Amino acid sequence: MDGPGRGAGPVTALVPAAGRGVRLGADEPKAFVPIGGTPMLTLAVNGLVAAAVVDEIIVMVPAEHVDRTAALLPPDAPVRIVVGGAERTDSVRAGLAAAGDTAFFLVHDAARALTPPALIARVVDELRAGHPAVVPALPVVDTVKTVDSGGKVTGTPDRGALRAIQTPQGFAAGALHAAYADAGSATDDAGLVERLGVEVRTVAGDPLAFKITTPLDLRLAESLLTARPAVTPC
Ligand code: C5P
Repeated sequence: MDGPGRGAGPVTALVPAAGRGVRLGADEPKAFVPIGGTPMLTLAVNGLVAAAVVDEIIVMVPAEHVDRTAALLPPDAPVRIVVGGAERTDSVRAGLAAAGDTAFFLVHDAARALTPPALIARVVDELRAGHPAVVPALPVVDTVKTVDSGGKVTGTPDRGALRAIQTPQGFAAGALHAAYADAGSATDDAGLVERLGVEVRTVAGDPLAFKITTPLDLRLAESLLTARPAVTPC
């Protein structure tokens, strides 16, 4: 329950699941690829439901997969299905357009299928504490370099100041709507919000919220699920 001074109001989760998953090399869109027999999209939505902090979920899928999607989602969950777009930002924009009045948005990649519910709850908690934009972050373990188009190294940013950013990313509804009102593209939603000058706060991420992108990631996810049962909605 919300305490005094805490942001109240509903939370809507937008789940981009319309990517083709070219880097995964599967025969179907990535979100529909099973891990331990369960599609990534199902696992991601189950995690959102299990977190018990989300009032509505909107999933964005490729147009030709809309019909099969309902059967992959928990029957009692407050989920709607909309058609995604060519780029991830187009998919999020489609979800935003379909959303009704809400106080907060979470944007959560279906490809982060093993995200622990506790991380989802942590992001919402910081939103309700008054932060307009919240992202999960992990320290970077590799040294990161910038390179030019010819592959020559042009710089080595201080690793101590770098973070790898995950989802769900949380936003006060007005901030996300304003960010998407401008045409533009970014590799994450916080990147668009930052351009408006909105302060983005980090919370501790979780290694299990890794994005399943390559065949190696898929194997890792499979073995993690075998070792620990999948989250199912309460
Ligand atoms: O391609 P990438 O791994 O960065 O995609 C992150 C998430 O965005 C995935 O869940 C993917 O399905 C989704 N996506 C989308 N629409 C696109 C491209 C990606 O919903 N056009």
